[in-house]
Amino acid sequence: MSVKVEELHGGGALPLRIRNVRKVYRTGKKGVEAVKNMNLDIEPGELITLLGPSGCGKTTTLRMVAGLETITAGDVFIGDSRVNDLPPSKRNVGVGFESYALYPPLNVRENLSYGLKAGRRVADPDKIVDELADRLEMRDLLSLRPASLSSGQKQRVALARALIRKPPVLLLDEPLGHLDAAARQHVRRELKLLQRQFGYTTIVVTHDQLEAMTLSDRMAVMNGGIIQQYGTPDEIFDDPANIFVADFVGEPSINLFPATVVRDGGRTLVRVGADVLEVAARTATDGAEVMVGLRPQDCHGKGVTKGLTGTVFVYEDLLEHGIARVNHPGVPDKPLVIQTPAELQLSPGASVTFSAPPNRIYLFDKDSGVRIR
Ligand SMILES: Nc1ncnc2c1ncn2[C@@H]1O[C@H](COP(=O)(O)OP(=O)(O)OP(=O)(O)O)[C@@H](O)[C@H]1O
Ligand SMILES: [Mg+2]
Repeated sequence: MSVKVEELHGGGALPLRIRNVRKVYRTGKKGVEAVKNMNLDIEPGELITLLGPSGCGKTTTLRMVAGLETITAGDVFIGDSRVNDLPPSKRNVGVGFESYALYPPLNVRENLSYGLKAGRRVADPDKIVDELADRLEMRDLLSLRPASLSSGQKQRVALARALIRKPPVLLLDEPLGHLDAAARQHVRRELKLLQRQFGYTTIVVTHDQLEAMTLSDRMAVMNGGIIQQYGTPDEIFDDPANIFVADFVGEPSINLFPATVVRDGGRTLVRVGADVLEVAARTATDGAEVMVGLRPQDCHGKGVTKGLTGTVFVYEDLLEHGIARVNHPGVPDKPLVIQTPAELQLSPGASVTFSAPPNRIYLFDKDSGVRIR
């Protein structure tokens, strides 16, 4: 008799709610506030990522949801249950942490079917293990023992172990970090397919913005224990809430440089050296010193006569487009990076004028970094 993987589904996806959650680690006399009053809603079957730099509180958040770390204040709800006081095994979560130990005496197949059964009777565990191993391209690992696995291989096994019981909530900490580029792409795609197919409500922790962009339904960009912005990848990229988010997301990075606001009737302009750019922000005050954010992808430099004029310093031809680094006299510290159409071949020393649509030029408060709209 064959058992379909689907038959083991643990009973439908659940919403996950994080309410005013804080985490203070006590180390000696001092406390480290790793997570500060966090609120996050994840819909059933949604895949969200926690994205942010090292030390921003991603792992801490995941461990509190999983039940591996106590919650200093606030509540976590999975479905209708407040889970603060439940042990990990009672929380309906599947956890893929790198540090999660596999049983050394068992080979990978045995480890996976052990995780699958966990006290239940499963008719044909081998078949389920084989199916999942095929999808994650790890069939050749099944007969190996944990000690002989590379870190990338361990990571696949940890992922398989988290997936195999079809948990309603799946929590993955840097699940692809140790994989090489090709494996990473494959496993990322399979993870997303499996997640869609089985509808796990999923949190993936990553510090890789491209991974977050390609995996997420929504992403929470974190810094200093605080969610800076929560939204779809497009919202985060196109409508950053502050300078941190604008700078953290996007490749090549956004150009950030100081400028002065000039109100001109109904229009808002910013002055950069001798040049001006028209921007969409309506609440900027005349004469204010602001930071401007300009994405390389939004700059266009063909047939443009008004905008920023600078001198090409380095030009890279990337076939589908070019990337030029341009020195501008109004931005003395660093060259501006612009993406240019392939047919516009630029050479070092050439003068180039470029601009962007007003609604694609962001203004930020110089002190707080908050977006001026
Ligand atoms: N067990 C602990 N005891 C004390 N401080 C801790 C502990 N675990 C984490 N921290 C601190 O809490 C903060 C958040 O750490 P966390 O591991 O959650 O960050 P992260 O976003 O996962 O970083 P990374 O990308 O490096 O994994 C850091 O300042 C870290 O030093
Ligand atoms: Mg971490």
